[in-house]
Amino acid sequence: MLKGKHIVLGISGGIAAYKSAYLLRLLIKKGAEVQVVITPNGKEFITPATLAALSGKPVVSEFFAANTGEWHSHVDLGLWADLMVVAPATASTIGKMANGIADNMLITTYLSAKEQVMVAPAMDLDMWAHPSTQRNVATLRRDGVIIVEPGSGELASGLSGKGRMEEPENIVAAIESYFSKKETLKGKKVVITAGPTYENIDPVRFIGNYSSGKMGFALAEEFASRGADVTVVAGPVSLQCENGSIHRIDVTSAHQMYDACLSASRDADCVVLAAAVADYAPEVVAETKIKRENVEDMTIRLVRNPDIAAAIGSEKDGRVLVGFALETDHEEENAISKLKRKNLDWIVLNSLRNPEAGFMKDTNKVSVIGASGQEIRFPAKSKREVASDIIDTIMPSLV
Ligand code: PMT
Repeated sequence: MLKGKHIVLGISGGIAAYKSAYLLRLLIKKGAEVQVVITPNGKEFITPATLAALSGKPVVSEFFAANTGEWHSHVDLGLWADLMVVAPATASTIGKMANGIADNMLITTYLSAKEQVMVAPAMDLDMWAHPSTQRNVATLRRDGVIIVEPGSGELASGLSGKGRMEEPENIVAAIESYFSKKETLKGKKVVITAGPTYENIDPVRFIGNYSSGKMGFALAEEFASRGADVTVVAGPVSLQCENGSIHRIDVTSAHQMYDACLSASRDADCVVLAAAVADYAPEVVAETKIKRENVEDMTIRLVRNPDIAAAIGSEKDGRVLVGFALETDHEEENAISKLKRKNLDWIVLNSLRNPEAGFMKDTNKVSVIGASGQEIRFPAKSKREVASDIIDTIMPSLV
């Protein structure tokens, strides 16, 4: 699985750096080509000579080679890598990665990396538990970095608790799992709706909702990272796609989303409807701005928008259809009713009663309910992790 894969192994300055030599050896034995990038502090814990001998390549640490003045290109390295693994990642390196503080080769390479980045933190238990570290780790997760959680046990300080870098064998298992997932949806076409729709009242006002598009975009990134051919039909949101392979269609209203989605999903294998589509739109849109002085009070007549999920559900034609249900009460009952009414294969229930779920949040807490009655409840996680759980759950219907 790792044969011929290009891996950048980033090593920062912690006592766990001694384990990186073993991690490097395991990767080389599995056929990976590994380029080590070490921080200046990393070299205090393990010598570049050891790492160069094990990898068969000179170790990169400085921006310029001291003897020749040759420039080490972090951009080339970032493009070369199929995966970058930072192990050990100290609290300082995690903080710099989370905040883009590019003062050494490891961080500049991270900022240039086009493919997946994985981080195996290593530090003392109090440093790991500190709100600042946890904030930085959450930022990395949000940025799509895979975190290989540290283990618990005896630490270099003599204390015992969570903070030990995960064992090299387990980091290799996480790397293999990443590469095996990356291929699983190759050749599958997935269409995802994301964000709100805006229904114009006049040229300056609209009816909308609080959806940020984060859930739909997290799904798009996760599907793309598994090799799927992804089209995201996005309402008005300020998000960017990280993965350059994602095809994006921007729309504003429910009617535009309906047209774009039905056309894009004609030959899709799977359609995921994460958008919060306005159910109603003003029957008449004023051509010019409605003036306050001219209207004492106002009634806007609303007409029903087309239901994208139900339209695709009525002619499913082998496509796997996944809807969302955002509920405030009678959650399961309402979600199951939508699942049946719209002829969905799966519905993802999130409740606004849960403070970690719903609009704009970076986290969500969902239950995934299948058409045959199965239900899996997940704890609150980042939206990217929720996307991963959703895809893992529906995978048997997809492959
Ligand atoms: O975007 P975020 O800020 O990250 O927030 C994420 C989210 C809360 C918007 C998302 O997790 C979510 O729950 N999306 C669906 C919200 C919703 O509108 O649910 P609903 O119960 O009204 O609709 C049920 C399903 O039918 C949804 O899949 C919806 O996309 C779809 N639908 C609804 C109306 C319509 N006209 N066409 C549709 O396709």
